[in-house]
Amino acid sequence: MNEFQGKRVVLGVTGGVAAYKAAELVRLLVKAGAEVDVALTAAGAQFVGAATFQALTGRRVWQALWDERMDNGMAHIGLTRGAAALLVAPATADFLAKLAHGFADDLLSTVCLARDCPLLVAPAMNRQMLENSATQRNVAQLRADGVSILGPAHGEQACGEVGEGRMLEAAELLDDLHAFLQPKPMSGKRVLLTAGPTFEMLDPVRGLTNSSSGKMGFALARACVEAGAEVTLVAGPVALATPRGVRRIDVQSAVQMGDAVTLALPGQNVFIGVAAVADYRPQKTSAHKIKKGPSSLTLQLDANPDILAEVAARPDAPFCVGFAAESQDLAANAEGKRVAKKLALVVGNLVQDGLGGDTNAVTLFDAAGAHVLPPGDKSEVARGIVAHIARLMEKQLGQH
Ligand code: CTP
Repeated sequence: MNEFQGKRVVLGVTGGVAAYKAAELVRLLVKAGAEVDVALTAAGAQFVGAATFQALTGRRVWQALWDERMDNGMAHIGLTRGAAALLVAPATADFLAKLAHGFADDLLSTVCLARDCPLLVAPAMNRQMLENSATQRNVAQLRADGVSILGPAHGEQACGEVGEGRMLEAAELLDDLHAFLQPKPMSGKRVLLTAGPTFEMLDPVRGLTNSSSGKMGFALARACVEAGAEVTLVAGPVALATPRGVRRIDVQSAVQMGDAVTLALPGQNVFIGVAAVADYRPQKTSAHKIKKGPSSLTLQLDANPDILAEVAARPDAPFCVGFAAESQDLAANAEGKRVAKKLALVVGNLVQDGLGGDTNAVTLFDAAGAHVLPPGDKSEVARGIVAHIARLMEKQLGQH
């Protein structure tokens, strides 16, 4: 994945134990295609040496205020020119205090003050230092000044205590930074999604299900968060981590999924049905394991509610999006579903292109016709779908 291709990130490292995670973050950023310039404070260098960051970035590390590498000797001005973001991770209590008051007595604090790009900080400190009203005041001031605060998380701390103040993990910081840099066409919107398969219980050890991995729905949920939306994800049984910033509700059966959707629906602007909902459920669920009997067994099945069609049929229906995974006749089947379920948009794909894997090739069907998205990674495809939804909603607004 080259999610940071063509982007330069300036990473400030201050003096906290979590500086070791900054080294891992640099590795992940470089792997994702970013150019990384590290600005290391004197205290930061006590924890992780410049040689480590230099080896990981392939670039020299910035430490001195009067570094002669900048033509005019003004590293504090030049370093963030053209950078996508300046992230300070870890940001100690002392550094937050300096930032909040505009001190500029070393290279990094001066770079922050003279920056030409957005500033994000990932606090890392002992829980009492974080809870201290001075720190709380500084964090509130930084927020008011437009600085993005990433984390901190709850957990075990280097001092042996447990509480709030632990720096986010490198992968979480990478996710948050990536989300921060995405366009925000869904800002202020609330999105509800279903994802994954459903599992219709037959007896305590068996059930009817399907082979949906949930990956497309989870990628869409993440793309919606990145686009600025508030996201609720109703998930069938899948083994996937919840995307950062998503509220997740786990369910098993189609009926449970429908109930969870009904509960979460008020106030939603968009509903996206990505789940592969089982169309039928066993008429009876046996309390005990069904024992092997004669040579054949007949199961009686009842139809499950069509969650998406029911949501779309409501008088106060949000903007509704469906998925159509087909094995043949994609255009006819997908457009048929769009019209039958009264949807603004259907995302169609051939099962052989997407099922279970990390990539997908989809075509979007809306009132204006079919739009083929470039095939790619599910997260890339998800971003394309979200951008299309945002454009359609914008158009709808313009018509009213
Ligand atoms: N869907 C739903 N509830 C159901 C069945 C489907 O919400 N009980 C939603 C899916 O999440 C998807 C869309 O409807 O967005 C299409 O699902 P699909 O199973 O392909 O459509 P069906 O109407 O069940 O058609 P068929 O199985 O005959 O292809």
